[in-house]
Amino acid sequence: MTEQSPALVNLLTESRTFPPSDEFAGQANAKADLYAKADADREQFWAEQAERLSWDTQWTQVLDWTNAPFAKWFVGGKLNVAYNCVDRHVESGHGEQVAIHWVGEPGDTRDITYAQLKDEVSKAANALTSLGVTAGDVVAIQLQMVPEAIFAMLACARIGALHSVVFGGFSPTALRARVDDASAKIVITSDGQYRRGKAAPMKANVDEALEGAETVEKVIVVRRTGSDLAGEVPWTDGRDLWWHDLVDGQSAEHTPEAFDSEHPLFILYTSGTTGRPKGILHTSGGYLTQAAYTHHNVFDHKPGEDVYWCTADIGWITGHSYIVYGPLANRVTQVVYEGTPNTPHEGRHWEIIQKYKVSIYYTAPTLIRTFMKWGADIPAKYDLTSLRVLGSVGEPINPEAWIWYRETIGASKAPIVDTWWQTETGSIMISPLPGVTSTKPGSAQRALPGISAKVVDDQGNEVPHGGGGYLVLDQPWPGMLRGVWGDEERFRETYWSRFADQGFYFAGDGAKYDDDGDIWLLGRVDDVMNVSGHRISTTEVESALVSHPTVAEAAVVGATDPTTGQGIVAFVILRGNAVDGGEEAVQELRNHVAKEIGPIAKPRQIMVVPELPKTRSGKIMRRLLRDVAENRAIGDVTTLADSSVMDLISTGLQSGK
Ligand code: PRX
Repeated sequence: MTEQSPALVNLLTESRTFPPSDEFAGQANAKADLYAKADADREQFWAEQAERLSWDTQWTQVLDWTNAPFAKWFVGGKLNVAYNCVDRHVESGHGEQVAIHWVGEPGDTRDITYAQLKDEVSKAANALTSLGVTAGDVVAIQLQMVPEAIFAMLACARIGALHSVVFGGFSPTALRARVDDASAKIVITSDGQYRRGKAAPMKANVDEALEGAETVEKVIVVRRTGSDLAGEVPWTDGRDLWWHDLVDGQSAEHTPEAFDSEHPLFILYTSGTTGRPKGILHTSGGYLTQAAYTHHNVFDHKPGEDVYWCTADIGWITGHSYIVYGPLANRVTQVVYEGTPNTPHEGRHWEIIQKYKVSIYYTAPTLIRTFMKWGADIPAKYDLTSLRVLGSVGEPINPEAWIWYRETIGASKAPIVDTWWQTETGSIMISPLPGVTSTKPGSAQRALPGISAKVVDDQGNEVPHGGGGYLVLDQPWPGMLRGVWGDEERFRETYWSRFADQGFYFAGDGAKYDDDGDIWLLGRVDDVMNVSGHRISTTEVESALVSHPTVAEAAVVGATDPTTGQGIVAFVILRGNAVDGGEEAVQELRNHVAKEIGPIAKPRQIMVVPELPKTRSGKIMRRLLRDVAENRAIGDVTTLADSSVMDLISTGLQSGK
């Protein structure tokens, strides 16, 4: 394994533990015997978990793994996912319970009860059907955090259409690639979005993306920014429809149809080690079972009592599993917030927690570190005593941030659940159980009951306690991905070929066991970067850079960043000597990447260099570039084709060339 960044080194020396209080343990959903129950009979355990859902037809087999790595869970079972997230709560007498406390960035709010949610989802389902959308069709959704995003996702689920949600910050090029890859028939978006107090266009970007897109028949547009948005909303008659014109007049009656447990639910694109994002496919019964099970146990959620808030965006898997599917299946009352955490002020999250008495708060380490930077005096101004469980996701959390989170936000009392999982795993896989686990700052600790994870060496042998290696998942799990959209080979190659002999799923993360056998995640071991909890591949950014006419070659690395976890650092060779590599050229390249992929992929730093370090077979040695990017002494250069290259790079950078 490569050397660890300074932030992660602390993870290797951390030894504090925080046992749960008797009070918390006594009332917790999860009890310690859950592990033993699951170990005794894993399939039986998952069968019991699936019982938290309403099935139209009972399954006949829990797991069919005969066609591995393609799993089938709850074989023969039929259910409607949207019915499980909405209607059944109304039928059981909770129609008046608030499902969503929505908070708009400018300060407008909407409270949506389960009865209202049912009406909205039913109307949207009728609207999609009226446009000819049927089961198996793909609907692309590029929306900010407005209630219609959730209505749209559930409407798709209700009629068996797959949604493909594309993060609102992705560029037209990125949206188009996703629309084309899945042959999306419908795109749902908004006129504009509020971002840091300003209305920014959204529909205009979608139009740019869809120019000449052959599969898209209709574009549905939610009115959000209205007259706050400068200029007209571009419109294509015959293709574009306002959400309110299309949906509001529809009947609120809609009979949900039961679909097979393995019916596709959604595609979500994520970065891999090549330039092309992969469409991760998730299906219905197993996915919803694990999302609901984990939400119940990991967050200790009590329906009707807790107020839950997951700060993720629905453009990512966390928003899918822990805003939409898991929580709603469990009859949550949750906050959904549209905007950025410092609009209009840096206490916005704490103000919302105080107002709605949020009791479970789930966020990302990068945001915790940002809050730390803003200062503890900001949360101190608010009443946060309602908080009783705190969650973290997206990247390793450094012990300093963990302790700050516990002390400053959790009053040194609320258990912290550091949850490890991926777009591909669908739901949480490794996490403490609050009320059971003695937590450790920076460790996700143990595979959940029903899940199995191991740390193995290069040969796939489990390492001893105290040892480090690769994280693998050695047993199938209900929420696992069912493939990469349209690319079976890539599915096998990416996840199942590294440890093919053992049949392990290769997660792409480095990890170690401590002396107790708890797991500590140490970051990616492949060419995937993690910037503010967002997965971005080095090759994706490199392809964006070389698509610029001035760039001859590019190499990108993730360098340790105190706030964002990693920052993108690019090394570029410009074409010909005619081009100057000054500040302006570098700015232009940064903007070019933002335009090609989205602002989240904008390199923190671009260094213009005369050469790139390569092995004799032409592979770029990113390890050496990381040394430069992190201002470290350059490591072993003996495998370089030309060992003087690193001198050339270092000297060039020092002299500012
Ligand atoms: O490297 C791991 C990191 O995020 C990757 C998955 O990214 P994505 O599919 O975008 O999903 C993020 C939200 C689930 C993982 O391979 N990661 C996620 N959670 C943690 C983590 N690394 C360490 N600790 C975590 N709790």
